[in-house]
Amino acid sequence: MGFEEVYVTPWEAEAFVDYDKLIKIFGSKPLTEREVELLKSITGELHLMIRRRVFYSHRDFDRFLEAYKMGVKCALYTGRGPSGHTHLGHILPWIFTKWLQDKMGLEIFFQMTDDEKFWHGEGGSLEDYNRLAYENILDLAALGLDPAKTHVIIDSEDIPFLYPIAVKVAKKITFSIQRAAFGFTDSTNIGMIFYPVLQISVAFLPSDIYGERVEVLIPAGIDQDPYWRIARDIAPSLGYPKPTQIHNKLLPGLGLGGKMSSSKPETAIYTTDPPELAMQKIMKAFTGGQPTAELQKKLGGNPDTCPVFKMFEMLFEDDDKRLEERYHLCRSGALLCGECKAELAKRVAQFLKEHQARRRAAESTINKYLARHKFSIAKSNKSRVANITKSLINSV
Ligand code: TRP
Repeated sequence: MGFEEVYVTPWEAEAFVDYDKLIKIFGSKPLTEREVELLKSITGELHLMIRRRVFYSHRDFDRFLEAYKMGVKCALYTGRGPSGHTHLGHILPWIFTKWLQDKMGLEIFFQMTDDEKFWHGEGGSLEDYNRLAYENILDLAALGLDPAKTHVIIDSEDIPFLYPIAVKVAKKITFSIQRAAFGFTDSTNIGMIFYPVLQISVAFLPSDIYGERVEVLIPAGIDQDPYWRIARDIAPSLGYPKPTQIHNKLLPGLGLGGKMSSSKPETAIYTTDPPELAMQKIMKAFTGGQPTAELQKKLGGNPDTCPVFKMFEMLFEDDDKRLEERYHLCRSGALLCGECKAELAKRVAQFLKEHQARRRAAESTINKYLARHKFSIAKSNKSRVANITKSLINSV
């Protein structure tokens, strides 16, 4: 699969990677007008992340939309490894997923992988990552995901939902497939080696819960793609529809290169950052500007490699015309970085203020998001049994 060529695994990825090259290496498809028009025929309007191709690549997104139009049961699936507080790079796909939920009335299955983060060994205890999973749910609530339609599974606590599926998934995956897809080595702990089975299993859970074939769309960063390639390979033999994907580009950090990442907190904006701190981080950001104001006026800046511009483009400027203006003002040297950063800082601070108030208000409603309070394991097992009975009858 060629990870030597582009450094993108689910655990490490550069931003400003060559996204076209990734499509080729991963074998996904670029999002074209055809899928975009199909989406628009359902949603009526287009989210900025579609218009600007922040979501830019897919697998069978068209098939998912067509199934939806025909009345087939559909669901969304995404997730989070709760390694710390949530930053803007994390919420980017969630904002779009919520938009799809609102426009299409879909349920979201959301996996919190405290086990993955513990196994991956970033130093915390399992209890730490578990606590962070609950912290991160507050962000889902603050973004306005519908609690009646959003079902969170926390791996270390909700494994009975996944295990009956995981057992079957695990049997289909060899170590050599895992190694090729994820770059595992002999010294990778076996928790990590098993982990992909759990991330894949959630893609099949909606079908088990509802006892019918549920088409699942996974909006997620392109770095998560290795899981879905395997999921799609094994789905037919397990009797599930192949999960479909729509991939987003990763939000750059505010430093020189790299995606926004918890390993570089000074270049990441957390949803829990005091607004003043976030403003300071932005004012210190690396930009696509020239070393001095004189040079900037003469030569202009480069918005294409500027994380500040990318923040406007990918999250904070919904108005296409204004974004274009900003682009040209930067290129022409009329807009200086200090001014541009101050504008972004103001918008981000405002967002954080509102988000944090909603986050606090959500503390008492967190239980409404937990799948375990909504579906009984017994019920999902019952539909499994019903399915088995049906297929036995069919095969007689
Ligand atoms: N592995 C993901 C991470 O580290 C978490 C995750 C689990 C996920 N299931 C997912 C992400 C589905 C996207 C879609 O963040």
